[in-house]
Amino acid sequence: MDIQALIMLAGLLVVVILQGQSYRTGVGPVPSKARVRKACIELLGDVAPENIIELGSGWGGMTSMLAKAFPDAFVTGYEQSLLPLWCSRMAHFGRPKIRTINTSFFDIDLTTADIMFCYLSPWHMQQLASKFDRELKSGALVVSAAFPLIGRTPLKQALSKGVIDIPVYLYRW
Ligand SMILES: C[S@@+](CC[C@H](N)C(=O)[O-])C[C@H]1O[C@@H](n2cnc3c(N)ncnc32)[C@H](O)[C@@H]1O
Repeated sequence: MDIQALIMLAGLLVVVILQGQSYRTGVGPVPSKARVRKACIELLGDVAPENIIELGSGWGGMTSMLAKAFPDAFVTGYEQSLLPLWCSRMAHFGRPKIRTINTSFFDIDLTTADIMFCYLSPWHMQQLASKFDRELKSGALVVSAAFPLIGRTPLKQALSKGVIDIPVYLYRW
């Protein structure tokens, strides 16, 4: 087998793995756009969190941005898709304030979190709303890119303008 065929086979394998894992989690590891990430961080404003949780941290780009924006905070990303998870772990190697954990965020305890970041899907947001009600401490902040929590009133919202305008929402518990 020549090198081109080998590369194509490896590419195909990556696509199949990513598709399979997206089927399991209900959303693919599509990274949020830099402008959307920036809008989310701006929406959070002047806060001093200790614990930030990224629900579905994907390839880790937003994890890095959160760690940069809030250098005193611990940033924990939860990610079920193995390929993005390992890329993110390699990118964050040697950064003690960033952790990425391979488990479903539906199975973790959110009681100590100050900020949750989500870029998920309408289904995920609907499932998470009752978990947030049960577990979030008073004053905890949830920032969601693109998908609102239906039936909840955001504290603030903004529109990240681009080829496709993307709304971002901030909720306080
Ligand atoms: C649209 S991507 C967003 C990635 C990243 N947060 C960003 O903004 O670039 C959503 C990620 O959530 C992950 N995910 C979906 N459901 C999950 C679950 N229950 N537990 C952990 N990760 C999950 C997916 O594997 C995917 O990588």
